[in-house]
Amino acid sequence: MSSDRLSSTILVKEHETILKVIDALDRKIEEFREGNLIDVGFLRSLLEFSRVFIDKCHHGKEELCLFPCLERRGIPRENGPIGVMLMEHEMGRSLVRQINERLDSYVSRHSKTDFERILNLCSEYIELLRQHIYKENNILFPMGDGVIDEDDERRNIECYEKREHELGEETHHRMEQLAEKLKQEAKQ
Ligand SMILES: [Fe+2]
Repeated sequence: MSSDRLSSTILVKEHETILKVIDALDRKIEEFREGNLIDVGFLRSLLEFSRVFIDKCHHGKEELCLFPCLERRGIPRENGPIGVMLMEHEMGRSLVRQINERLDSYVSRHSKTDFERILNLCSEYIELLRQHIYKENNILFPMGDGVIDEDDERRNIECYEKREHELGEETHHRMEQLAEKLKQEAKQ
């Protein structure tokens, strides 16, 4: 089977979109620090991208489609790579919630403590996602490609399509556009 038909290839491509946004956030953090001011609009859009694209579109496919398939094929969840990936997804969700709460507080009070805390949480989020994506791309997905067969591939892709349909057909495209917008904003 050619690699562009593998169900993991679709997820690797989504990782590229996620990394584009994470790189944009990294550049914006520098700007926030230099200007001593947070671009609230940028960060709110980034949190929307995280909640919708990273969590629902992407982690949804992993948690409800690929990972259960890998488990059926013998890759362990408890004390294994899938368990670690699931734990890191939870850490990401928690960081997004914390950034959101701090941002609300920053908007109403503009305190230095909130400013510093938001920058630190964003750095933590960037680091978490970069190393998480590296582990999936270079360890878990190649491991999975070695144990799943053509029927699994077909079922996974059908499962991905079902997820996208449930989220609304235009959601994925809207998120790709948002990723590009965030990248452009971080260039200015
Ligand atoms: Fe992933």
